[in-house]
Amino acid sequence: MKVQEKRASMGDYASRPRRADGSQPGWSLPRRAYKDPAIYEQEKEAIFYNSWIFAGHVNDIPGVGDYFLYTLLDETAIIVRSSENVIEAFYNVCRHRGSILCKESKGSVKGFTCPYHAWTYKLDGKLMTKRSMGQDFSPEDFSLHPCAIEIIDGLIFVNFSPTPNKLDRAREELKGPLTLFDFEATKVAVHRSYPIAANWKVTLENYQECYHCTPSHPEYAQMHTLTVPEHQFDNYQQPMLDKMAACGLKHYEIDQQWDHQETGQEQYGYSRYALFETHQTGSQSGEPIAPLLGSLKGFDHGASDLNIGPFTYFLIYNDHAVIYVFTPTGPDTSQCDIYWLVRSDAEEGFDYKIDELTWLWHETTLADERIIVDNQKGINSRLYKPGPLSKMEYLVDRFSHWYLDQLHKD
Ligand code: FES
Ligand SMILES: [Fe+2]
Repeated sequence: MKVQEKRASMGDYASRPRRADGSQPGWSLPRRAYKDPAIYEQEKEAIFYNSWIFAGHVNDIPGVGDYFLYTLLDETAIIVRSSENVIEAFYNVCRHRGSILCKESKGSVKGFTCPYHAWTYKLDGKLMTKRSMGQDFSPEDFSLHPCAIEIIDGLIFVNFSPTPNKLDRAREELKGPLTLFDFEATKVAVHRSYPIAANWKVTLENYQECYHCTPSHPEYAQMHTLTVPEHQFDNYQQPMLDKMAACGLKHYEIDQQWDHQETGQEQYGYSRYALFETHQTGSQSGEPIAPLLGSLKGFDHGASDLNIGPFTYFLIYNDHAVIYVFTPTGPDTSQCDIYWLVRSDAEEGFDYKIDELTWLWHETTLADERIIVDNQKGINSRLYKPGPLSKMEYLVDRFSHWYLDQLHKD
């Protein structure tokens, strides 16, 4: 379905019945969804620890023994290259009395030694220590707890559930779009974390809609056509579609996101939409700022949205990609991690400059942080009541359906 059609099909909210929990389709969520500590606790197992989240790129850990930590609330995964071609993830929890093993956020090691009583584990998580543990002690019973990890085209995803949703449908259906940009042959040029003083849903909802883009993001609004009224949308979309083949691109529309998620599978989606003619990519000048990704041959004045799981979003220009990961850091706080990716053979200072690469989404994210925090402050008031969503906020509505479903699943 075209983006424009999807937008239109989400109208007529007011006629839909109230849900059993009192919330109303087409309206923002009730205050308790953002404020109730019991709901936040419920969200941990139902959503946070049960979602695939982008944690980094295989090129971040090129050598055997290279590792980095990925933390989500109380859980931390050690993501390590345990042999030439194997990347594994383990919980950062010693099997003796539970101390954390790794304190440095990244490094290169031959094994992991616990800072407490010095139990030592191999890179594959197997325990080596037997010191003072007696005859009957079997080190093989005390390997590190494995954490679910999947690698899709060089992109590392982790999941803290013992029974995670499957990623096989996402991997299969996103193969076409991902191949265009050859993410395996990219690298993270810059990674920055932006703390946000707001509940994670306020942060995530903001990313689902571009109703706020024109008033809040002048830089974004001058290049991205998602800001134009829907009746004008195809005027921009069609010229981009006409140019795609010559640039080495293909058109895909994939929507297994939010309420379209298949049971037992992680959610995912992909679409492409036009930039204004003045812009070949998401740069201040509109000119390219890095070498073309993958086997692309030119600029179709387009950008792709791709998502895997509820927290990870890609915006893919022809010469670079931006990955946003929105996660909770507490009941009232969240975080946006942004990763800027370029071709792995691109040289900083020569092929790309950090300031040019990060300009748009650094500025846009700071503006987002301001409006998200203001939104949370208003929700904190006892006077906050759910308000009606616009057609441009159709994904916020779909998110709400999905969200409530997750909480009320058995
Ligand atoms: S807690 Fe790790 S060695 Fe004791
Ligand atoms: Fe925004």
